[in-house]
Amino acid sequence: MTPRLGKEDKARLRAMVDDLNRHAKLYYQKDAPEITDAEYDLRFRALKDLESELGVVLRDSPTRRVGAPLAEDVAAAEHRTAAQPADELSLEYAARSFKPAEHRVPMLSLDNAMDEAEMRAFVERVQKKLDRDGAIALLGEPKLDGLGVELVYEAGALTVGSTRGDGRVGEDVTANLRQVTGAPPVLRGEALAFAERVSVRGEVVMTLGGFERLNKSRAARGLEPFVNPRNAAAGALRQLRAIDLERLRALEFRAYAIGEGAPTGVTRQREIVEALEAWGFATIQNWRFCADVEAALAYYGEQLALRATLPIEIDGVVFMVDELALQRDIGELASRPRWAIAFKFPPHQETTIIQEIVASVGRTGAITPVAKLQPVKVGGVTVSNASLHNQGEIDRKDVRVGDTVVIQRAGDVIPQIVRVVDRDRPERAAAYKLPGECPVCGTEVVRAEGDAVTRCPNRACLAKLKNRLLHLAGRGALDIDGLGEKIVTQLLERGLVTALPDVFAIDEATLAGLERMGEKSAAKLMAAIERAKNTTLPRFLIALGIPEVGENAAELLASQFGELDALINASAEQLTAIDGVGPVIAERVAHYFADEEHRAEVARFRALGVRWPAVARREPGAGAEGPLAGKTFVLTGTLQTLSRFAAQERIEAAGGSVTGQVSKKSSYVVAGEAAGSKLRKATELGVAVIDEAQLLALLSGGGDAPRAEKEPEAEQGKLFE
Ligand code: IVH
Repeated sequence: MTPRLGKEDKARLRAMVDDLNRHAKLYYQKDAPEITDAEYDLRFRALKDLESELGVVLRDSPTRRVGAPLAEDVAAAEHRTAAQPADELSLEYAARSFKPAEHRVPMLSLDNAMDEAEMRAFVERVQKKLDRDGAIALLGEPKLDGLGVELVYEAGALTVGSTRGDGRVGEDVTANLRQVTGAPPVLRGEALAFAERVSVRGEVVMTLGGFERLNKSRAARGLEPFVNPRNAAAGALRQLRAIDLERLRALEFRAYAIGEGAPTGVTRQREIVEALEAWGFATIQNWRFCADVEAALAYYGEQLALRATLPIEIDGVVFMVDELALQRDIGELASRPRWAIAFKFPPHQETTIIQEIVASVGRTGAITPVAKLQPVKVGGVTVSNASLHNQGEIDRKDVRVGDTVVIQRAGDVIPQIVRVVDRDRPERAAAYKLPGECPVCGTEVVRAEGDAVTRCPNRACLAKLKNRLLHLAGRGALDIDGLGEKIVTQLLERGLVTALPDVFAIDEATLAGLERMGEKSAAKLMAAIERAKNTTLPRFLIALGIPEVGENAAELLASQFGELDALINASAEQLTAIDGVGPVIAERVAHYFADEEHRAEVARFRALGVRWPAVARREPGAGAEGPLAGKTFVLTGTLQTLSRFAAQERIEAAGGSVTGQVSKKSSYVVAGEAAGSKLRKATELGVAVIDEAQLLALLSGGGDAPRAEKEPEAEQGKLFE
């Protein structure tokens, strides 16, 4: 039986979507992931599972996207390009103003298989789809851990090179791609003629050697090292100004597919690769033709064993049904082909020694233990720190200073400590306990009951204030360009800022008096601070740094309350009543604004000129205008012509909303084939049940469908058998 979508399910779904969106953003837009790829995949799958269990996919769910969101919409970026300083720190800002580049044929992503059983299941799905028992020939290729890009050639000359973006529109990074080895400026046509317009897909990677060289030279220049080759490659490709050629030259392009303009007569995937080679591309080496699944598994095993010896990082093997005619028969989902799969490698593991455990203080006062490791190369990348998250984690794993530990990374940034190797050593150090006082301000720390995290409760703690200020100045919040770590540290050390709003009380002369601050940069920063005063309610809410309130929650709260005072005065119950606001967010928000000091802080922001326009208020459920404004729908079963996504999107576009749970307040239950418990519930509650044709009529504004009579369950059931 399908569980119903209660408040908790909804909150869980919301939290998972927000979480994944945040990590996707850190990964794709900031090149600064906080979790491993493997962890991202796990969370992504958990979300997918929950979505199919609940039959609900939120509008902004990452499962609806092919790949990365764009760095941002270009219009919003236009006005800021002029002010960008051309130094390393500005790269993430610089990346904001690439032109969009459309992929005429969408760039698909791949489903993953994590183990042999999943790989076999993929082959079985293919067999079933093709209605065959016999072996299916697969082409296997090492999966390069880089960035997918597209190169467009017109009349044989490279015209546009772009990142994958969301699969439909990427970023135009032509100038940078022209510097990359393996991406020829013109196609060779002697061996094989090419079409007027050809688009070639492939992966841009940084070699491990290039990566190490790059990091050495960065260290020599006093710059932070890149954490892994893929992030270095992503950053390199998306440089907008102050182009660092050294970085670009460490990149290589390897082609693996043709979007438009495949030569006529090709019948096999393998011939596509041959065509690419004939045109002058570097392609994926070490591929193998696998006659059946056993051969595919053997090939995977060989590649896994070879992995440590390769000059570029590979994170799995891509298997594709080799015959193109079969690929067409098997077909594609919205964002993934059903005829290909990425069989991922397990994460890289190494052992090393914990030299020290230090406690670091974050924005909310959370004290995080970090293990300082004897530097070790894990899959080609040197690792020297690993977060231990909290005391509970340390206790569970019984991690102590001096221990030898297994650490792992999977093309990721934050390495994890998997386990202690030598736990039975007699001369082990004492168990590690987080300090009883904040390592920065000395205040006694607290750990609330049921909370895994230990916190510094001192509002004036400099570490906390510093991180809150950096958060406030960040891109997603008030976006104060130029207010970075160095400046913030000086402002705090000199006592020029003792609370968040103080930023808006600083004058230009004070800024100019800071170290490493010329008159010009002081004027620039001052202008950025002035600009930041003019903000929006969601951004202001994000800037406050209320725990759990990220982009989505802030948008939702702003749209529900319209103005800040109503939100400040809302009780936890009022907040929980909002669709999409779970009990945790509600509690955090109510608790935050119940605090006199926080209210005073808000008042001070306002007094110093921080302002935002009122937000058009939206009643829960009442979306935009449209024929379905104010109506809530529940979808169940399989519709004939519309996918669930499409149905939801069209309902939302017409002003309605879609929920996963049938209640008395539901306007309609749309029942398709094999509808189950939701349909029964609808009949029990007397909610109108309509079919797809009736939904389409409503969507086109064809009036209200009749409210259903209560019908005996059995009869309703039969309708959809
Ligand atoms: S073939 C329909 N071959 O992995 C897509 N992709 O996680 C067929 N990738 O989007 C892609 N190495 O960017 C193919 N040897 C390889 C690859 C490869 C890396 C990337 C590609 C794809 C992503 C999916």
